[in-house]
Amino acid sequence: MNKKIAVVGAGNVGAAVAQYLAEAQLADVVMVDILDGIPQGKALDLTQAGPIRGYNCRVTGSNDFAAIKGSDIVVVTAGLARKPGMTREDLLNKNAEIVGSVAAEIVKHAPNSFVLIVSNPLDIMTYHAFKKTGFPKNRVFGQAGVLDSIRFRTFVAMELNVAVTETQAMVLGGHGDTMVPLPRYTTVAGIPISELIPADRIEAISARTRDGGGEIVKLLKAGSAYYAPAAATVDMVKAVFSDQKKVLPASAYLEGEYGLNDLYIGVPVILGGKGVEKVIELKLTADEKAMLHKSAATYKEFLQIIGY
Ligand code: LAC
Repeated sequence: MNKKIAVVGAGNVGAAVAQYLAEAQLADVVMVDILDGIPQGKALDLTQAGPIRGYNCRVTGSNDFAAIKGSDIVVVTAGLARKPGMTREDLLNKNAEIVGSVAAEIVKHAPNSFVLIVSNPLDIMTYHAFKKTGFPKNRVFGQAGVLDSIRFRTFVAMELNVAVTETQAMVLGGHGDTMVPLPRYTTVAGIPISELIPADRIEAISARTRDGGGEIVKLLKAGSAYYAPAAATVDMVKAVFSDQKKVLPASAYLEGEYGLNDLYIGVPVILGGKGVEKVIELKLTADEKAMLHKSAATYKEFLQIIGY
């Protein structure tokens, strides 16, 4: 294959992204990590799964960022993961340093790529990568809303004992405690969940979604979720690669949409061959808008901490 996708960070999320990408057979995959032997070992292991899993794309690993040269998309998963009791924002300074240096390498080796940020705190790291690469806003976006919405969908399906594939959900705002699940835009086979689930249960499901990552951190005790984050990431890569023009929530740069300026936050977008092709402005109730603005205000404060 002559298309190439780079995955920076060969930890749990990066390795699961590489696995799902290989299985999707979109492109060759290169994993890069600073830890000696880890990207190489995981890439070789994934390559050896190919004969049974049915993929022929090349999966390689390197400690040298030059290996990302020519990549169409660079997925950035590098950074520390949360430990129990930590918020995503506790990772701020260390991960800003890591993502900042990765951004410089992307500019050097893959200046025409799309950049998909997965590192936490997600919306802050996406803004940081946007500033550090200087790439246009359509080429830099963050994965968060897709993960949050598949969690919401899972909990709705569990509540109603229906096929998860029949559910649709929308989640706005930052990927953190100020996330804004939108039950009004959440449906089962087109039926609003307000017709199917009592209000107090919808509130409980929304709260569980908001804490979806934390619930898994608590169970795992070391590290955070990776299967669902990786699945969400690969869904977004496919949307760009195959110009699917999918409508999904992503961390996108806002310039006036939703009354917000100069920040990245989760909003519905059209994701296609040009990256973020459009931000979709939903009509929000006063409460929903207030929650989104509260989420945005929190992120503005975090951006200041890392010098913006
Ligand atoms: C989560 C982390 C990865 O939500 O942000 O699971």
